[in-house]
Amino acid sequence: GAPVEQDLSKLEPGAMIKVSWRGQAIFIVHRTPQMLAELENPSLLARLRDPDSKASLQPEYAKNTDRALKGEYLVLIGVCTHLGCAPLARFSPQDAELGADWPGGFYCPCHGSKFDLSGRVYKDVPAPTNLSVPPYRFLAENVVQIG
Ligand code: FES
Repeated sequence: GAPVEQDLSKLEPGAMIKVSWRGQAIFIVHRTPQMLAELENPSLLARLRDPDSKASLQPEYAKNTDRALKGEYLVLIGVCTHLGCAPLARFSPQDAELGADWPGGFYCPCHGSKFDLSGRVYKDVPAPTNLSVPPYRFLAENVVQIG
């Protein structure tokens, strides 16, 4: 499939858009400083299966805590690593369904897998690995190319 370009200049902090690439949903989240700070929270890290993304799929340049080229923009393949359902954006902390200690992230409604705000999977859920990061680059400050 051909690469896909997306202008992110109108994507508000805290918001997500979906684009289609190779027939898959790509999630792009404009993370706030608070969302990024949460990624280092020790109580979150203790709940993650693969916090350093050692067993998970991402390009070399996204092998960091932010799992991103630029921290403010998270780019993920929006396909659950369990059986391929579409995870839901559940960015608000203390979600009524996900609990008072939910710091925000993604939730897969099919079998309850949970992922943080960089797509890292929780322990004790069916999904085996973090959500995958596709190859991408920035063509300009706020223009991303997927693929
Ligand atoms: Fe997402 Fe099973 S497909 S938890």
